[in-house]
Amino acid sequence: MSDIEAMQARLVGEISAAADPDALEALRVAALGKAGTITALLKTLGGMTPEERQAQGPQIHGLREAVTAAIAARKDRLDAAVLEAKLASERLDMTLPADAAPQGSIHPVSQVMDELAEIFADMGFAVATGPEIEDDWRNFTALNIPETHPARAMHDTFYFPDQDEEGRAMLLRTHTSPVQIRTMMAQEPPIRIIAPGRVYRSDSDATHTPMFHQIEGLVIDRGIHMGHLKWTLETFLKAYFERDDIVLRLRPSYFPFTEPSAEVDVGYKQEKGRRIVGGHGDTEGHAWMELLGSGMVNARVIANCGLDPNEWQGFAFGVGVDRLAMLKYGMDDLRAFFDGDLRWLAHYGFNALSVPTLSGGISA
Ligand code: PHE
Repeated sequence: MSDIEAMQARLVGEISAAADPDALEALRVAALGKAGTITALLKTLGGMTPEERQAQGPQIHGLREAVTAAIAARKDRLDAAVLEAKLASERLDMTLPADAAPQGSIHPVSQVMDELAEIFADMGFAVATGPEIEDDWRNFTALNIPETHPARAMHDTFYFPDQDEEGRAMLLRTHTSPVQIRTMMAQEPPIRIIAPGRVYRSDSDATHTPMFHQIEGLVIDRGIHMGHLKWTLETFLKAYFERDDIVLRLRPSYFPFTEPSAEVDVGYKQEKGRRIVGGHGDTEGHAWMELLGSGMVNARVIANCGLDPNEWQGFAFGVGVDRLAMLKYGMDDLRAFFDGDLRWLAHYGFNALSVPTLSGGISA
């Protein structure tokens, strides 16, 4: 074996044994750097006779190429190992329990809205939304509440000082019913939606806050009648309160946008200062409590949305979400819902990871 062959074997051996990028770099500098051994050999070519150069040139260049290739190959191996170590050290174990250190909680209003969306989704309802800043045509006029109607004053409306481009008065919606109008104007029947959201009225005491939450329900189809309304409400309330003994009483009432209209009461009994929903309101120890407004969608509202009331009928209802939360989870002051008191939230809030499902028990 020539000197050069021996040198190549030694260098390639050292290179493939280099433990890390720094050791490899040191070998590269020692062989191919300015003062490196191979660099020195290449320099000797200049002082050789043409015959010597012809004999040794290819050997020395071959040495340089072999060592360069060995360094590149080793560098690839070491870089891959470094990357692998980095990936291993940055690994996230997705199977670790994420609730080991719970932070924050789900507000009861959000929880109840999630529960309602789950319950109604099971009955084939989609979730619809509308803006909180609404115009008076959708909030009132289209819902058969004309300008002179006392209901406009009844709603204690917050108006904005300016009108929109079409000259309509702008306001904070006083109920979720304008989403009925938006939905009927945007999609063809059959329609089955719920519309949860914030509503605003200038009103404040233990059971009224200027901002509160409602959920609207709307069904538009052919041949819809009050029986469908009653079944839907009963099914929803049984699922929501997680008990079968929900008894409803439909009382004749009046809303401009429904005809006929019915106020819906639910039977309850008083227990340890709390109202427990369930049972017939006229039996011993029980009473009725007003829960929600509902009715058959007024033919004029259907026509206002460009639909033919002779072909399409439907029912609608509106419920206070905050009130539903208070009844189910036992809070007694509505104002505390919106105070942002962390102690209240820690007590009444829900784990962010337990999503309500019908199969899992709606509030479990
Ligand atoms: N919008 C009514 C309210 O806020 C409730 C309601 C909705 C009544 C739909 C009937 C039908 O009081």
